[in-house]
Amino acid sequence: MAPTVQEMISNINNRSGGNDTVQEPSDEQLKELRQKYEKAGQGHVFTFYDSLNASQKEALRKQLSGFDPDRINKLADHALNPPKPAEIEGAPALEPLPLDATSSVFDSKPEDLSQWYEQGIDLIADNTVAVVLMAGGQGTRLGSSDPKGCFDIGLPSQKSLFQLQGERIWRAQHVAEKQHNKEGVVIPWYVMTSGPTRGPTEKFFEKNNYFGLKKESVVIFEQGVLPCISNDGKIILESKDKVAVAPDGNGGLYNALIASGVVADMKKRGIKHIHAYCVDNCLVRVADPTFIGFSGSKNVDIATKVVRKRDAKESVGLILQKNGKPDVVEYSEIDAETAEAKDSKNHDLLKFRAANIVNHYYSYDFLESIPSWANRLPHHVARKKIPYCDLETGETVKPEKANGIKLEQFVFDCFPFLSMDKFACMEVKREDEFSPLKNARGAGEDDPDTSRRDIMAQGKRWVQAAGAVVVSEDKEDGVEVSPLISYGGEGLEYMQGREVRAPAVIEKEE
Ligand code: UD1
Repeated sequence: MAPTVQEMISNINNRSGGNDTVQEPSDEQLKELRQKYEKAGQGHVFTFYDSLNASQKEALRKQLSGFDPDRINKLADHALNPPKPAEIEGAPALEPLPLDATSSVFDSKPEDLSQWYEQGIDLIADNTVAVVLMAGGQGTRLGSSDPKGCFDIGLPSQKSLFQLQGERIWRAQHVAEKQHNKEGVVIPWYVMTSGPTRGPTEKFFEKNNYFGLKKESVVIFEQGVLPCISNDGKIILESKDKVAVAPDGNGGLYNALIASGVVADMKKRGIKHIHAYCVDNCLVRVADPTFIGFSGSKNVDIATKVVRKRDAKESVGLILQKNGKPDVVEYSEIDAETAEAKDSKNHDLLKFRAANIVNHYYSYDFLESIPSWANRLPHHVARKKIPYCDLETGETVKPEKANGIKLEQFVFDCFPFLSMDKFACMEVKREDEFSPLKNARGAGEDDPDTSRRDIMAQGKRWVQAAGAVVVSEDKEDGVEVSPLISYGGEGLEYMQGREVRAPAVIEKEE
């Protein structure tokens, strides 16, 4: 049976370490807790318990009472020894999405695109659109300990990713207000963080005055955690008094949306259409009116944006149909044959080329139904180097190679719960909508320099399209256009005939 909202709230609280009101346990309760872990073959987590001081004991107890070791064993066993696909359902039949579930900005009629845009602006003006940001990842590939959204990609304005996104929300509100000649348009921004990213994210938003948005329209919430597991299925102790834990993946979004009261808040505000996206894409069109209008007019539960996959090796998930249902095959789990398969009609193209850019539309009704399906989301394995406590010496060891797994849910794993007619996909231009920040500077791909380059190149295209002439003696010849004056290239008519010396920043209409 699906868990109730109350049960989910209690699960999340437990998963993130419990609350502050946990009482000192009786000997009986402690014995029970120990026995639960011992019976599950996880009794080693108590190895140092008797030698800890009172507050360390309490911290460990709180953590351990938050997990159900039998459930963790099941998840770990399933993750470490997955049933072979043939054992579950026969070899899955993978096919590109059917044509009628897909639209592309490349071949859509201009009148359709402008109709979707107008419909999206109307929905925004009616205060029925919200935005959900997934920002709970730890950005280990980027090599920064700050939340990714705080990252300065080196733009002349030094704006962070969070700021670019916040300003785009402000601009979308502003455009809708102007077009509808009204005030008070609000696109609530729900920001999902995790244990490691919550505090710094909250501070950053506050320090930056919520990027010009109303504080009460920004809601920062937190996803859950799961224990890390060794390669032989044991819960890893990080130190004598602490279990190693990790955020439960961006699919932890769904439980967190319910448990933290976000869905209830959406209901109160009358939200009907939700745009969810990842923090690391500097070009993301937050609350994109065209995408909202497209999805709303198709009356689907989920829609997703894709770009054409760069090459067979690009680290992106692929949106496709699996056994007739919408699905994603993640880059970490795809086999070479599928990744490299060619289109039967055009051998220059990959057969599976719809790259997932994690821009999802949800209907409110679908999010309201989360409790009825969230416990069916699978867990995936990420093999990692996880610092662990040596059970002989009590010292924490940093391993040289992967010694265990983190269990993660993926945000797209609910797609197959839908029938194809409740799902839509929109292909968009990569240069306008996707430039993710994944790697540290110098990687040459998906790094801060490519993010900056792509924003500056887009701004240059926009001002040129508005009739400006861009001149430069610098090899950096791009133009940064503030989202406060243009969301997607609009509003730059006053640039007609002007000369812009690049590199330049256009912050204000003057
Ligand atoms: C993700 C997609 C992949 C897509 C690619 C495009 C998933 C599972 N994979 O992969 O299909 O092609 O982006 O760039 O969506 N996050 C959380 N909590 C977590 C883990 C991650 O909120 O526990 C957030 C991150 O902050 C980030 C987003 O989810 O905003 C994506 O996480 P990341 O690990 O960067 O995903 P990729 O592996 O690049």
